[in-house]
Amino acid sequence: MDTESFAVGGNRDSVRDIKPHSPVAALRRDRYTDLDSSYSIDAVAKAVGMSPTFVRKVVGRHPHVSSDGVLALLDQDAFHETFVPRSRVIEFLEARRARDTSANLIPNPADHELRLGHVLDLARTVPEGSVNCVVTSTPYWGMRIYEDSHTAIWADGETCAYGHEQTPEGFVRHTVEVLDALSHLLTDDGSIWWNVMDSFNTRTQVRRSAVEALRAMQGKDDRRWSEHAVRRYSAGHSYLKDGEQCLIPAMIAERASRIGLYVKTVVTWAKISTLPEPQESRVSRNLEYILHLTKRRTPKFSRRAYHESDPEFGGRNDELESRKLSDVWVLNTSTGREGHGAQFPTALPGRCIGLTTEPGDLVLDPFVGSGNSGLAALYHGCTFLGWDVSQTYISIAKERLGSVSPRLPFV
Ligand SMILES: C[S@@+](CC[C@H](N)C(=O)[O-])C[C@H]1O[C@@H](n2cnc3c(N)ncnc32)[C@H](O)[C@@H]1O
Repeated sequence: MDTESFAVGGNRDSVRDIKPHSPVAALRRDRYTDLDSSYSIDAVAKAVGMSPTFVRKVVGRHPHVSSDGVLALLDQDAFHETFVPRSRVIEFLEARRARDTSANLIPNPADHELRLGHVLDLARTVPEGSVNCVVTSTPYWGMRIYEDSHTAIWADGETCAYGHEQTPEGFVRHTVEVLDALSHLLTDDGSIWWNVMDSFNTRTQVRRSAVEALRAMQGKDDRRWSEHAVRRYSAGHSYLKDGEQCLIPAMIAERASRIGLYVKTVVTWAKISTLPEPQESRVSRNLEYILHLTKRRTPKFSRRAYHESDPEFGGRNDELESRKLSDVWVLNTSTGREGHGAQFPTALPGRCIGLTTEPGDLVLDPFVGSGNSGLAALYHGCTFLGWDVSQTYISIAKERLGSVSPRLPFV
């Protein structure tokens, strides 16, 4: 596949229209006939979406896999793409081998700290194995225009802001690339909590906030289609039809497993109030997902905070939730008053942090927005690191976190 395949949506601005044209591309074996390279089992296993044990079953018990071995793995029924499509796996492994992994590490904060930058750049500044809990809500695919968005170059060759990929598959690949980078920072008993919502493959305007979307539904936006900064189209995908649900959270969960993480649970966040959806042919959506991902089967985990914390920071909502902590969490939506168009309520990160940290642990939110996860981390007596590409949101989060002092309910 050539890089141009990804440029189908238009120019290389960070927020361009989204046209989900699946590229026509296939693996070109002839390119690799003279290649005499080998790669580590772990790197190959992640790139072909199989466990190292399964890779050994196919190519034999060697410490490295040759380029011919990789081609054999690409032929297996068990193959599934992770970071890059099949046609790019060998280029990806070559690039990873040549990658400069030297890092300028920055010490972790003693209380809380907010850093401006792109998630993959900042991930290189944190000592490996030093983060106890990652909790975040990422941009969703094709859904919002954020302030100060950042064009990134991804491993699959696409150049775009995160969330503005041309196809849902591109978004899933970039998410897996981010998850892999973050998993290196996580302690062995740590947890990643990944809040993500699905998108429908529809023709729609991409807006700045839920409030803007609501105004449009109420007929208060009289801009024509051509006047919108970013439009998402629905034709041209290799199988998704117009109006169909993409199933992005399920794809992310499966691929997280394929790069070696444990999918502990896919939690459903049942939202108490949501935007109206003027749909004639399907039910309205009232939920989002939170993926609980870990590095080992038994992460740090305690239900105590569910029973003892303030509901605003993840404790049980007595009116709507039972004593049994299940995989359906009934939590309010955020008021959105903090100047950010896509916030989660403090109860969501609060619950995740309460279940999988102890006071003094480090919590990271790589897409911190207005800082709700930071407030929750400080409530639970943790230290906190938050990242965002937007100076506007970093400033909002800084002000909010600066105005509270850590409270330590359990010590
Ligand atoms: C869904 S919002 C997070 C909102 C947050 N949970 C809150 O409650 O305010 C996603 C955030 O990711 C940030 N973002 C987008 N691309 C990013 C990137 N490549 N690296 C870091 N942050 C990014 C956006 O600026 C936005 O603030």
